[in-house]
Amino acid sequence: MDLASLISARAESIDVSGIRRIFELGAQLNDPINLSIGQPDFAVPESMKRATIEAIQNNKSGYTLTQGIPELRQRIGQRLREDLGWNAPSDQTGVMVTSGTSGALFLAAMALLDAGDECVIPDPYFVLYPNLAKLTGAKAVLCDTYPDFRMTAERVEPLLTKRTKFVLKVSPGNPTGVVLNTQECRDLHELCKSRGVLLIADQIYDEFAFDEMLEPTPQDPSRRATPSAARFPGAEESMLVIRGFGKTYGCTGWRMGYAAGPSTIITQMSKVQQYSFVCAPSIAQWGCIPAFECDMGEVLKKYERRRDLVMEKLTPVTEVPKPGGSFFAFVRISEKLGMTDVQFSEACIERNMLVIPGSAFSAKHSHFRISFAVEDSKLERGLDILAEMLAG
Ligand SMILES: Cc1ncc(COP(=O)(O)O)c(C=O)c1O
Repeated sequence: MDLASLISARAESIDVSGIRRIFELGAQLNDPINLSIGQPDFAVPESMKRATIEAIQNNKSGYTLTQGIPELRQRIGQRLREDLGWNAPSDQTGVMVTSGTSGALFLAAMALLDAGDECVIPDPYFVLYPNLAKLTGAKAVLCDTYPDFRMTAERVEPLLTKRTKFVLKVSPGNPTGVVLNTQECRDLHELCKSRGVLLIADQIYDEFAFDEMLEPTPQDPSRRATPSAARFPGAEESMLVIRGFGKTYGCTGWRMGYAAGPSTIITQMSKVQQYSFVCAPSIAQWGCIPAFECDMGEVLKKYERRRDLVMEKLTPVTEVPKPGGSFFAFVRISEKLGMTDVQFSEACIERNMLVIPGSAFSAKHSHFRISFAVEDSKLERGLDILAEMLAG
């Protein structure tokens, strides 16, 4: 039986992630300096572990409501009020708990894109973004954000057409760590609103941003948060915010995220969730309620120090736009080295080190991604090797 002939063109159109390929090569290395890791290196806060264990012991293991347990949705609504000034959930605004941030992005694409539609995504992008379009028969239009990785209204505007359904921004970004400022967020939001296009903000790292990036929030000026287009008046009716728990609280495998925005869109996303994910994992939903009380300040300081080390070691030899959050930096391979990103990553493997070629996230081959979610001594050794290689 020719099983290959049964595979859909949709599935065929998706490449194995460039990241996976490096993992396969890296599996043959002995104790490598692994700067390819996409998840934080700290344990889940105890209160979240306890809440999950209690949920299991109290048999809270059945299906939940499609949109998530009311206790968590209420807590999310409160956080949206504190951080963004949103009045959610209300008649106009909806909130739903999703299976990770990826789950929310997938549901949004399913709810918004038809074959032939377009969405604008940044280049470089998070690996899932172009595939959201492939899975729905739509087209992902790349917004070239090199060399500073800022997805500005000026760069997006010429890419909008009658078929554009949404513009997807991510700040802090993966793979770049770059954080958009308030004016850039405002301009992007105004542009999308004026053209009748939905702005989707992937804010998975917005609570993983460094101190210098934070600004006072509308409800409580003593609380500071990452700049977001979602903070402008009326944003809850013109944009979709997607956030996650995995990166901020070290629980990527719990598969927890949420989406908030116009109820017209959240209702459609919930319908798709009902017949796909059904609900986010029940015990993890209970486990994430105490997340809102967890202070991750110390963890963030540690990552900020690592970011500073990245800048100190690499900026003398190459261009690295300063990450304002997340744990990634996107590093330029100078033309004088005469190497593509893949060749550079292979040269790293020869030195027992893993980095991800930039073309896993981009149409270009000029950069590579490092993650600084790595213990300090290994990071320092890795950066010294990279600095030597980049200096040529
Ligand atoms: C920008 C961005 N969005 C979404 C995701 C997916 O996150 P999750 O594990 O919550 O699905 C990631 C994960 O690396 C990411 O970097």
